[in-house]
Amino acid sequence: MQSSLLDYLRCPVSGKRLTIEVIDYYEKQYSSKTIKEIKNAILFSEAGFFFPIINGIPRMQLESVLIFSDFFKKYLPDFEKRKKALIEKYGGIISERYKMNKPTRKSFGFEWGLLKSNETKIWHNNMSEFENELFTELDEPNSLHGLLAIDIGCGHGYSSHFMANAGAIVVGLDMSLSIEVAYKECKNEKIHFVQADLQFPPVQHHLFDIVYSSGVIHHTNNTELSFGIIQELVKTGGKLTVWLYQPIPSLLHNTILFARKFTRHISVRLQFWLYFFTILPIYKFYLALKGKKMSWREIMIDLLDILSPFYRYEHQPQDVECWFVKHDYSDVKITNSNLFGFSIVGKKKGF
Ligand SMILES: C[S@@+](CC[C@H](N)C(=O)[O-])C[C@H]1O[C@@H](n2cnc3c(N)ncnc32)[C@H](O)[C@@H]1O
Repeated sequence: MQSSLLDYLRCPVSGKRLTIEVIDYYEKQYSSKTIKEIKNAILFSEAGFFFPIINGIPRMQLESVLIFSDFFKKYLPDFEKRKKALIEKYGGIISERYKMNKPTRKSFGFEWGLLKSNETKIWHNNMSEFENELFTELDEPNSLHGLLAIDIGCGHGYSSHFMANAGAIVVGLDMSLSIEVAYKECKNEKIHFVQADLQFPPVQHHLFDIVYSSGVIHHTNNTELSFGIIQELVKTGGKLTVWLYQPIPSLLHNTILFARKFTRHISVRLQFWLYFFTILPIYKFYLALKGKKMSWREIMIDLLDILSPFYRYEHQPQDVECWFVKHDYSDVKITNSNLFGFSIVGKKKGF
């Protein structure tokens, strides 16, 4: 983690600045320079929360105290005392978030683990198509110089990468361990990664020129609630862009949604092998008949993306337009749409 990220980070509960105790540093190699970064450290909030920075990434979920207890036992001498005080004050919400977020962390951590580091395609697009689509969704030219962006649910980190290449400083936020791969592969020093829950974003509110979230908030327990939370990060005059699933009136799709009622309760690893030996060969055969090709990884990512997440909602564009208007956004428009979903952008009005 670069020290400059501290300027944007805040306690996800109190919204106040954090203090830091650094354990060690290391040198991270970017394409144009080497930067001395914080490798391991602990962030402290006045509210009593404490969050580890492990291998260069701040881990800022409320439940970090439970997930990273081994790290704290090693590096925080009064860990047990602090943990007791924190649990006394916030035990209810910490254990609730732990239970709620665990399936999401696992399913997406596994799903993105299937992506090869030199992947040439994502969501059926090659890299330049993916990049073009991103700028269409953002409704921005390919230059983002001087802008501060946050990529909520950045997953593999490709969108963060393209925004940074266009000149923006980008914070990539995701709850799953995909963030570790995204950070490791990152060659652009303008990108910072944070492992966090978008419903408790550990960053300063009303700060970002661009808040971008593609295919993410419909994977939370309440899409509209998540929308309301992430829109708080946009500064006056800034933009919010979200991509969301929409309902598909097809028997096959509705059968898959029905199957989800069961599959979302099965471990993602078991689902992988189940689909690998059943749906994958059938689908490959179907593609061959049509003269098409897709790598097994691409197919499995698609399958897991629809069948494994615990939450997956679909929304009508006109409902989402209302959310924008309700939160005082203007210039709301659909920038991209296909059978599966749509992206929608709006500009935050001044006071
Ligand atoms: C379908 S992927 C989309 C990834 C990327 N934005 C893209 O367009 O390819 C959804 C991502 O949202 C993340 N996610 C889901 N719920 C989250 C939450 N509450 N907080 C942070 N990230 C979350 C998942 O870990 C996953 O990486």
